[in-house]
Amino acid sequence: MQAAHWAQVLQDSGFAAAIRGGAFVYPFVNILHVLAVGLIVGSIVALDFRVLGFARIVSVEGASRLLTPFAVAGLLIAIPSGFALFAADAVSLSQNKLMWIKLALIALGIANALLFRKLWNPHLGAWERHATTLAKSQALLSILIWLSVPSLGRLIAYL
Ligand code: HEM
Repeated sequence: MQAAHWAQVLQDSGFAAAIRGGAFVYPFVNILHVLAVGLIVGSIVALDFRVLGFARIVSVEGASRLLTPFAVAGLLIAIPSGFALFAADAVSLSQNKLMWIKLALIALGIANALLFRKLWNPHLGAWERHATTLAKSQALLSILIWLSVPSLGRLIAYL
């Protein structure tokens, strides 16, 4: 009831009307969202595979330094653009279970990434000696999460 009320307020807002209005705004925000998704998935999954032991010619620290800023930039674009897409059609989307599963997975994915950083950042320089089973499990979980999130995002339009 509460969620339905806030979804209605959001959908009726001037912000949501601006996203829906005109021929180009919603498609532009959608394109921005998809490009941000590419940045996130491409960078995080590549780093996860390196953590799992692929492409040892590149150091984990080097891969992390290159890829982490792209992942962060992708998230900083995907979250507001996703919010704008949500606002445009908030009432129906707030009743879509896949939407909530997707948001929960995003929160889990971010929490997993932050925990990984907290636990393993000091060891990235000498990674091959410190790559524990826990760290590799986190990388595997991360791959599963960040492949599921865009799949759910796409499925929302159909289910
Ligand atoms: C809090 C953050 C986010 C919110 C609120 C959000 C919300 C949305 C909404 C409302 C849609 C349109 C659904 C529809 O009506 O069809 C969408 C589409 C999509 N989202 Fe997100 N999103 C967020 C973050 C992400 C992230 C992090 C990813 C992937 C890593 C992602 C992947 C996608 C994909 C692939 C689509 C389908 C785009 C298309 O094919 O048109 N979203 N998102």
